[in-house]
Amino acid sequence: MNTPQSRQEFISLCALSVAGLCTASVLPSCRTSPIATTPSDTDTLLMSIDLSQPAYSALRVAGGYMVIRNILIIRYSDVRVIARSAFCTHEGQELIWDSALSMIRCPRHGARYLPDGVVIQGPASDNLIQYRAVLSGDSITVYGR
Ligand code: FES
Repeated sequence: MNTPQSRQEFISLCALSVAGLCTASVLPSCRTSPIATTPSDTDTLLMSIDLSQPAYSALRVAGGYMVIRNILIIRYSDVRVIARSAFCTHEGQELIWDSALSMIRCPRHGARYLPDGVVIQGPASDNLIQYRAVLSGDSITVYGR
């Protein structure tokens, strides 16, 4: 026969089990893939940028950015570059990098994206495409998947 205490333990155990199942089913969808900086075997070379060329001088300094072949290339820091699709997922406006906010912004209707391309302010609702960008010396190499 169950005592009030054992019933309470049973309910607590059930609640923990349900919470565990919910957590297990939600976590994989919350997981974001890490942004690797080295190419993998499945990457496709999209472009190589020679930073010694004057045309790419904006990418020599942290905070600079350019749109090249529909890809927004951002010199995120002295040692890191980021590459994302260059057009807003709302109505296709070319995006800009706002280094003061450390965000990608749409100048038309104000959508904002994190550096990893995740939209955080509408009216855009879809994330940007991530490309893999590797900075090595005076060269940036961009890969797609
Ligand atoms: S086109 Fe970018 S928010 Fe509308």
